[in-house]
Amino acid sequence: MSRVYACFKSIGAYAPKKILSNSDLEKMVETTNEWIVQRTGIKERRLASESEFTSDLGLKAAKTAIKRAGIKTSDVDAIICATLTPDFLCMPATACIIASKLGIKNVLAFDVSAACSGFVYILYLAKSLIESKLHKNILIIGAEKLSSVIDYTDRNTCILFGDGAGAAIISATENKNEAIMDIQISADGDYAHLLVAPRSRVMYPKDNRTLEYLQMAGNEVFKAAVKTLTTDVVEILQKNNIFSSQIDHFIPHQANLRIIEAVREKLNLPHDKTVLTVQKYGNTSAASIPMAMNDAYEEGRIKHSDLILLDTFGGGFTWGSALLRFGGK
Ligand code: COA
Repeated sequence: MSRVYACFKSIGAYAPKKILSNSDLEKMVETTNEWIVQRTGIKERRLASESEFTSDLGLKAAKTAIKRAGIKTSDVDAIICATLTPDFLCMPATACIIASKLGIKNVLAFDVSAACSGFVYILYLAKSLIESKLHKNILIIGAEKLSSVIDYTDRNTCILFGDGAGAAIISATENKNEAIMDIQISADGDYAHLLVAPRSRVMYPKDNRTLEYLQMAGNEVFKAAVKTLTTDVVEILQKNNIFSSQIDHFIPHQANLRIIEAVREKLNLPHDKTVLTVQKYGNTSAASIPMAMNDAYEEGRIKHSDLILLDTFGGGFTWGSALLRFGGK
């Protein structure tokens, strides 16, 4: 029997309409547009409305991804959603809610919690499920309503994050030239305390209100991110005998322009091959990479069989990278 590969067949995304600009934030906390742009590169971010939930954002991205893959909704045989802001904290999974909204029944649907690395984690799972021939068309979604866990009186965090969603269809193919080549993911829980969004009070005293919000040791996260994002890419390129000059598109997690630039320079990746959306969406965690990829796709930059490098880092700490040929049209 011939070998089956996993193909990154399509990309879709959705950004909520409402814009929260740096000048809006100047009125909310003690900060300036100059400080935010200089330290992060972020100019604005999107905010979901009160009645828009993570599943609604994910649904819109998913519909676009399904359409662009040229398949029917009924062809989807698994749904995996990465999010740190699920509609419901424990259950049901946001993937189940999206499945219901799409009218898909009787297929595997579950969420993955891997913070900003979520999309690369679920890509890894989808690749494995396709290559093992258990599934043929998997819908993967990174969706976040981060505004629901951000304290808009905390200038250390509220300037960084935004809402949005991205989705992709990962399909079976026998054509190696349109396959996902390699993905590596990892984690180190010793650093869990440096980036936390508790919300659930299971572990904490009931009267500690601040635990409802995301908290971060920004400086320490920054240093770990630059180091890990760089070594991770060096490893995956070496393992696959690929030179950085062969990469058509470098799509890093969009957390901070300074982090991306530091990694890009260390890896000797050219500016024009690096996809940047952090300036307009901020950090959208699990949605960040697919939203960036979607922007590049809609700008006509990504073509069939282009070689793409994904690189991510997030709470946990978690991290991962992927090398893939784009299998869409
Ligand atoms: N506006 C103005 N000043 C601010 C500010 C804001 N929004 N936020 C912090 N400051 C102040 C600090 O209070 C500090 O003041 P002090 O020197 O008087 O104490 C000063 O600016 C420098 O703070 P510092 O934390 O050292 O700044 P930084 O250069 O590290 O930038 C981050 C802060 C958060 C932008 C940066 O650390 C970062 O991006 N970290 C990684 C975040 C991330 O990517 N998280 C998700 C990972 S997936």
